Amino acid sequence: MIIQKPGIGTIMKEAFKQRIVVPGFNIPYLPMMEPVIRALCDTGTFGLIMVARLEWIKFKSGSMKSIRYEYEKLKDLKFTRLHLDHVPVIDEDNLLTDFENIISEAIDLGYDSVMIDGSRLTLEENIEKTRRIVELAHKSGIPVEAELGAVMGHESGPLPPYEELFATGKGFTSPDEAKKFVQETHTDWLSVAIGNIHGAISEATRSAKKIEARLALPHLKKLNETVNVPLVLHGGTGIAKEYLMKSFKQGIAKINIATAIRQPYEKLMISSVKAAQDAVYNEMLDIIHNQLEITGSAEKIISQKF
Ligand code: 13P
Repeated sequence: MIIQKPGIGTIMKEAFKQRIVVPGFNIPYLPMMEPVIRALCDTGTFGLIMVARLEWIKFKSGSMKSIRYEYEKLKDLKFTRLHLDHVPVIDEDNLLTDFENIISEAIDLGYDSVMIDGSRLTLEENIEKTRRIVELAHKSGIPVEAELGAVMGHESGPLPPYEELFATGKGFTSPDEAKKFVQETHTDWLSVAIGNIHGAISEATRSAKKIEARLALPHLKKLNETVNVPLVLHGGTGIAKEYLMKSFKQGIAKINIATAIRQPYEKLMISSVKAAQDAVYNEMLDIIHNQLEITGSAEKIISQKF
């Protein structure tokens, strides 16, 4: 019997329907991939392995190719898929990138889904660039994640005071713009700004404790009522659980997690890679069992047997 492997587009639709969140884990250092995949398999949990452009430029993931090869060695399609995270059109240092070539290369390499981040562009420019990438990716059957609104934190300068950001809603994704954006780009998933921020990545600040972000849940509710695609929560580290659990009921179907597993790895990587990997594994168990409560999610959202 030929058994078809469900693509990540199908899996995400199912997760969105059942209100089960799919976590994506960033791999800034190649040896982190093994404990991340092991924890997903050991707990029967479905998750994405992710690399963002900044992780091969500013960290040690190597390249899209090295991540792809490592993934090929370790993957288990019952529990994992490979996603290309943030490929910004304008990056965190305000430089224009070669985003179209990077995304094409990822598709050729066999990444299962890709992200274009046009969030530093005007609405019209973001729509234009995202639509182009959606056309390119969909030709190969690859789903696209795009971003609208400002999820800050990756930029090298100081972050504006968080309380001020949250109170003013500055940079939050506008529901009207989101509706237009999704209609005109046909993006599969939408990353939204609702009070979430990324963990800092500059050398000077990357080991600092991340501030505890909150989520503007009434705002998320409006977005979820306006657009009917899975919503993505970036900056998944350090958000209080009560907010996370409620957000999963309001359309957040994917959560990106980097800082929570990177910092324990970086603390130990100089003295022992093995100890650093163990620290990642233990953090993964805590995230899966306690922080997200998604133990055993794979069999609920992937119906086909392998
Ligand atoms: P954190 O570093 O806050 O976990 O955010 C990760 C992220 O959103 C990567 O795209």
